[in-house]
Amino acid sequence: MFDINKKIQIGNLKLDFPFFLAPMAGVTDYAFRVIAKEFGAGVVYSEFVSAHGIIRKNEKTLNMIKFSEFERPIGIQIFGDTPEVMENAARVVYEKFKPDLIDINYGCPVPKVTKKGAGSAALKDLCLMEDITEAVVKAVDIPVTVKMRAGWNSENIVSTQAGINLEKIGIKAITLHPRTTVQMYKGSANWDLIKELKDNVKIPVIGNGDIKSIDDINKMFTQTNCDGIMIGRAALGNPWFFTQIKKYINNEDFNEISLEERLEICQKHLELLVQIHGEIVGSNNMKKHFAWYFKGFKGASFFRKKFVLAKNYSEMKDILYNIRH
Ligand SMILES: Cc1cc2nc3c(=O)[nH]c(=O)nc-3n(C[C@H](O)[C@H](O)[C@H](O)COP(=O)(O)O)c2cc1C
Repeated sequence: MFDINKKIQIGNLKLDFPFFLAPMAGVTDYAFRVIAKEFGAGVVYSEFVSAHGIIRKNEKTLNMIKFSEFERPIGIQIFGDTPEVMENAARVVYEKFKPDLIDINYGCPVPKVTKKGAGSAALKDLCLMEDITEAVVKAVDIPVTVKMRAGWNSENIVSTQAGINLEKIGIKAITLHPRTTVQMYKGSANWDLIKELKDNVKIPVIGNGDIKSIDDINKMFTQTNCDGIMIGRAALGNPWFFTQIKKYINNEDFNEISLEERLEICQKHLELLVQIHGEIVGSNNMKKHFAWYFKGFKGASFFRKKFVLAKNYSEMKDILYNIRH
């Protein structure tokens, strides 16, 4: 079992539950973040937000950054291709929204992003990565963190060198998802690289990649000695994973979430999505969440089908109501 007293400090931010909800585009909006937080997530992140969109004051982009006090501590993750754009965007985020952290995305493998030199494309040019990071660190008065992949491909693994360079520049923590860009989500995350990074920097290292269970958490802490753990896909339709971890640490039993509770959470998630995106976009967004919430338990496929076929918000509400009554 891992050290239950594990605490971590990121700049001036002290955390006594070092379990992070991963930034996930199309998922970690206000609605899901609030729910994950209610289930105990230590830190939540926005979806990655375009620095160009921020400096153009694009309304949709700025809406992605809005958060409530309840979500703190929260990190806003930005991506971009030049030091100037990233510096200006970071300043806007800092001055207008005052999050607890600004995180730089050096991990996105999607060609639409990397073709322009942003996201994990920085792993091919460590000088540019340093310049971008330095510009962001200088622009704001809150901790700057980075989230990166291991390298562009298996012949060019750069995570440890990049970590050493960026620590000197003043970043306050690094999250490493040790897959390469080329790998996308295939194969498995190479946790040895998390250990190698941890052995070479003093700032906190947050391990990420392929955590699916308490057992995985124990293994990652033991194998890598990382300071915190970030959870992505395992939280989809399963935000109570954070409660499960907390209960495990406190030596308390965790009871599987009942169908009734699941439906209640779905109802809340749907209402929050409709609140932020309106009925049509909000209920469309909810479809994938329904599929995740109703995955892998007895009788799940019956409910999944019902939600997938639902045409609109009112049909979704009816289904939720009918199952519960
Ligand atoms: C749907 C989805 C969207 C993602 N969007 C982002 C993102 O916006 N920024 C980011 O740094 N990583 C993003 N990721 C990567 C995750 O943050 C995480 O690094 C990755 O899923 C590995 O962790 P896991 O095995 O716990 O899921 C995304 C992953 C998924 C599945």
